[in-house]
Amino acid sequence: MKTKRVTVVGAGNVGATAARAFAEMNCVQEVVLLDVVEGVPQGKALDIQESASLRRFDTTVTGTNDYADTANSMVTVITAGVARKPGMSRDDLLEINAKIVSEVTKSILEYSPNTIFIVVSNPVDIMTQLVRQVSRLPKQQIMGMAGVLDTARFQTFVAEEVGCSYQDVVGMVLGGHGDQMVPLLRLCTAGGVPVRELIAPKRLQEIVTRTQKGGAEIVSYLKTGSAFFAPGVSVAEMARAVVTDSKRVMPCVAALQGEFGISGIMMGVPCVLGVEGVEKILDFELDEEERALMETSAASIRKNIEFIQDYR
Ligand code: LAC
Repeated sequence: MKTKRVTVVGAGNVGATAARAFAEMNCVQEVVLLDVVEGVPQGKALDIQESASLRRFDTTVTGTNDYADTANSMVTVITAGVARKPGMSRDDLLEINAKIVSEVTKSILEYSPNTIFIVVSNPVDIMTQLVRQVSRLPKQQIMGMAGVLDTARFQTFVAEEVGCSYQDVVGMVLGGHGDQMVPLLRLCTAGGVPVRELIAPKRLQEIVTRTQKGGAEIVSYLKTGSAFFAPGVSVAEMARAVVTDSKRVMPCVAALQGEFGISGIMMGVPCVLGVEGVEKILDFELDEEERALMETSAASIRKNIEFIQDYR
C-alpha cells in the first residue's frame, strides 16, 4: 500500500506548528517536515513524534533535508521563506520569498508530480500564483492559506465583543491577505444571530480593522517573527479537508476565472475542499459595497503580479 503522506516544507514556527497540528489529527500515515537547515526538521519531528503516546496519534513524523523523503505526497504545504519584522508589510517579502518558493515547488514536483499545494509563504496571494505558474498543475491543485486564519481572527474578536463562545461565531473573510482583506459583516452570526444586530457599526468597523491588521498586531508583540499558532492550525485544517475528502467549505486563495467578477489572479474566496483540492468555488452575489472592497483587494494583488512573471 502506498503511504498516505503530507509534506510540510519549512521547519520554522509555522511549519512545525502545522506539522504538529496535522499529526495530531491522525488522518495520514506520515507527515514529513523538510527544511534546508540540517538538524532542525529532524529535531522538531522527533519532538512531535515523542508526543504521540500522550496526544494519541499514530502518524509517523519524519524530519529531513532530502526531497526524496517527500515522494508521493498527497499534499504539500509550503511555509518556506522569511517572515515579517515589525514595520514590514507582507509585500516587502516578495522578492526573497519568490526565489525560495519557486525552488521549493520545483524540488517537490520532482518527487510528487501530482501533489496538491497549500501555500502559506507571504505575500500569500502572489506566492500561490507563483506556485501555480511554476508547477503548471491544474488550478484546483493549488491553494493558499489566508482566509481560514483571517476568519478565525475575526471570529475571535467578534465572540469577545458579543461575550459568547468562540465556537458559536461564524464569519467569512474574503479577498487578499493584506490590509485590504474583506470581512463580510452581513454574513457573520453568533449562534445564527446576525452580529450586525448585536454590535454597533462603529465597534464592528474597529473589529474589521483589527482583523485586517491581525498579522501585524502579533508581529508587533513578537518583534522577531510573525504569528504561528493560529496560522499552523489553519493550514492543518485545510490539509485535513483535502486528505479526508471532507468537502469542508473554507475561504482559500484560489484561481479566479470570473467568480465574484474577478479574473486572472488568485485570492481568497469560499472553496469546497476535497481530495481533488479546490473542488468548487462557491460564488455568490455580493452587494455593491462588498464588490467594491473585493475589487480594491484584487487591485492590490494585481500590482504585484509583474514581480513574478519571469518565474517559470
Ligand atoms: C499572519 C501571517 C501568517 O497573518 O501572514 O499572521
